[in-house]
Amino acid sequence: MIEVEVCVGSSCFLRGSEGVVKAFQDLIEEKCPGQAVLRGSFCMGQCATGVTVKIQGQQFSSVTPQDVPALFEKYILPHIR
Ligand code: FES
Repeated sequence: MIEVEVCVGSSCFLRGSEGVVKAFQDLIEEKCPGQAVLRGSFCMGQCATGVTVKIQGQQFSSVTPQDVPALFEKYILPHIR
């Protein structure tokens, strides 16, 4: 099971973490339902460069909903095939 954490702390929330969560959710449902789990996380200590995302423990900064497809392709899809 691939683990995706999106920071929903106040700073990342203001920077649009909700949209990032939604983008991951849609892709997971469409391409690999039941094979990746999405969690909201408290502040990851990188507020200045939010939205902060972790995929299998690897951290990404300044993530926008537009970045999500590329992250999905590169860091999630290869691990579920
Ligand atoms: S609120 Fe997201 S890293 Fe701090």
